[in-house]
Amino acid sequence: MSKPLVSILMGSANDWEIMQQVARQLQDFGVAYDARVISAHRSPDLLFDYIKDISAQGAQCFIAGAGGAAHLAGVIAGKTTLPVLGVPMPSKYLQGMDSLLSIVQMPKGIPVATFAIGEAGAANAGLFAVAMLALNDADLAQRLQAFRIKQADAIKATTLPTL
Ligand code: RP5
Repeated sequence: MSKPLVSILMGSANDWEIMQQVARQLQDFGVAYDARVISAHRSPDLLFDYIKDISAQGAQCFIAGAGGAAHLAGVIAGKTTLPVLGVPMPSKYLQGMDSLLSIVQMPKGIPVATFAIGEAGAANAGLFAVAMLALNDADLAQRLQAFRIKQADAIKATTLPTL
């Protein structure tokens, strides 16, 4: 197994249903990743140790999914200069608006690239990581281009049922 280039983190195992969309995108593009549950609130010491460890292994970016008072991405961004991508989870009571605002409203100086709430955000975070890695990987760039062409072709071939 090659060294993980992308670290996927989530605050709870309950986030995996959404965050597996990140893993699927990376898998489809053959990008090695490490995925695990670590909470900024429930296990902060573990989080700090992990960030150090995975960075030393050569990870190029972090994708963090969390819900509610979603501080995971922001805390990671405070501990590393690697790019941090945040995915808001659709929370039970506020439908992910709490997660979105917690992740997007970072203070000046510590950026987190914030994606849409839920599956689309998770998949796009994966694709965004692929795009970043493709800057230094011509094969990967080609695969990303092929993906876009295939997607456009599918739209072009779409027909609507006649009334
Ligand atoms: C956050 O709190 C997690 O990211 C999760 O979305 C939310 C609720 O966690 P659980 O109570 O479902 O474990 O830390």
